Amino acid sequence: MAALTPAEQKQVRRTSGMIWSYKTGQMVALQIHLADRINLFKAMAYELNYEWVTANQVAKHLGLKRRWVMELLRGLTAAKILEYQEGNESVNDGSASDGATDTFRITPVVAEVVANEVDSLSFNAGAFSGGVDPMLADKIIESFHTGVGFTYESRSLLGGEQSAEQTKRMLGVWTKGALVDEVLAVLNNGKVTEALENGGAILDCGCGAGVAVNTLGAAFPNATVHGTDPDGVALGVGRKDAKNANINNVSFFKGFGESYTSDIKYDAVICMDIVHDTPRPDLILQNICKNLLKPGGTLMIKDIKSTGSFKKNLETMGNLPMIYGFSLSMCLASATSTPDGMGLGTTGFNPIVAERMCGEAGFVNFHQHDFRDPANLYYEMQSPGGSTSMTRNATSASMASKKAFKKNSAVRNAIKRSPLYKGKKKKKSKKKRKKYPDLSNNPGPYFCACCAGLNLMQVTCQRGSKM
Ligand SMILES: C[S@@+](CC[C@H](N)C(=O)[O-])C[C@H]1O[C@@H](n2cnc3c(N)ncnc32)[C@H](O)[C@@H]1O
Repeated sequence: MAALTPAEQKQVRRTSGMIWSYKTGQMVALQIHLADRINLFKAMAYELNYEWVTANQVAKHLGLKRRWVMELLRGLTAAKILEYQEGNESVNDGSASDGATDTFRITPVVAEVVANEVDSLSFNAGAFSGGVDPMLADKIIESFHTGVGFTYESRSLLGGEQSAEQTKRMLGVWTKGALVDEVLAVLNNGKVTEALENGGAILDCGCGAGVAVNTLGAAFPNATVHGTDPDGVALGVGRKDAKNANINNVSFFKGFGESYTSDIKYDAVICMDIVHDTPRPDLILQNICKNLLKPGGTLMIKDIKSTGSFKKNLETMGNLPMIYGFSLSMCLASATSTPDGMGLGTTGFNPIVAERMCGEAGFVNFHQHDFRDPANLYYEMQSPGGSTSMTRNATSASMASKKAFKKNSAVRNAIKRSPLYKGKKKKKSKKKRKKYPDLSNNPGPYFCACCAGLNLMQVTCQRGSKM
């Protein structure tokens, strides 16, 4: 990587934000296209008379499935195309009660642009039909009618290895840069790293194209590293990468997290950006807790940072319009790919849902880490029956994280260069403005792409040769 001056680094961050804003445009364009095709704008304007309406009313009116209509209404609200009024507070978990009393409306002004195809010179919703892979758009539209989505594998079969490669490259930079040194280092107070250094075993459940599996395999040559995923195309990419990099202690197995079995019990399992994508996360968590981990073994889940309330998400997530585009085309689609799918979608595995579901699955020591990643949250927990029951509190965990942060100078320096880093303020002058914006309140324009933690990617992609 070229040595850049601080001014140039600032420009890099600005440029990155600008380029990501184009991706947001692409994801919002998809949502305008979908709304146009299911007649949502015209129905809300001319048939529902610009009234405040619930997702249920809209879905019934259009003869479509509520969960899918809800995701689109929220995405269009986040994109400031529709207006929204909060109903009775409820947890954002994709269930029937989630947002049941929230209402949405289209204004006459917006309708002139996206609904009035008869005599408005400003009408432009028709322009969006060409921007989406027509086969993918057809699949999504079908889901509005059936309520059933489609798997990552079916996307891969449609798009070939390219679609698995894209996910790998979006999520992989962060995984390669921070998984071992930042995250694993603090799990179970360092015992996970210790186990892997001494020949232990780890499973990446939902490993996709295997970027974490191969990273772990290379970092811990004595360990056994397994990855499982239902997407055979993505697994093929992971196997090929392992072979090319001469990593011999990794294996990939085609399977679903809820039914995957193994001859060995693992010291640790990781779920990287998958739980909200899965139809039955409850069953996956149970399988990991009861059948896959050793007693006292550790589960680490990385999932999208959202609040459990659509209203709060609107206030705090700068990347929300894009998030809903990803949800409709990937996350919700995958999470409803079986008829019994819970349909969490991109924002659905939030701290409230995570704590409840992990507790119900039997885990103990549930803990949320602060890894300074503005786009993702990290949950750590243990299966019961470990020799020592760990009493970990927020302070000890964030201390451990801070220790790892201190230890690894490459990560530390890269994080400090991030525009999103909220470091300790230097005492110097009270008048001096904070150099970095608040990470927690304003993630965009440094977007997480499909849950990717690209905010941190901004950080780790400056690591040069380690990438
Ligand atoms: C956003 S990708 C993340 C892939 C990978 N963990 C990464 O970080 O690159 C979500 C993955 O979840 C997988 N998935 C979907 N349903 C699953 C299930 N029931 N069990 C395990 N994995 C599943 C998909 O096939 C997909 O590879």
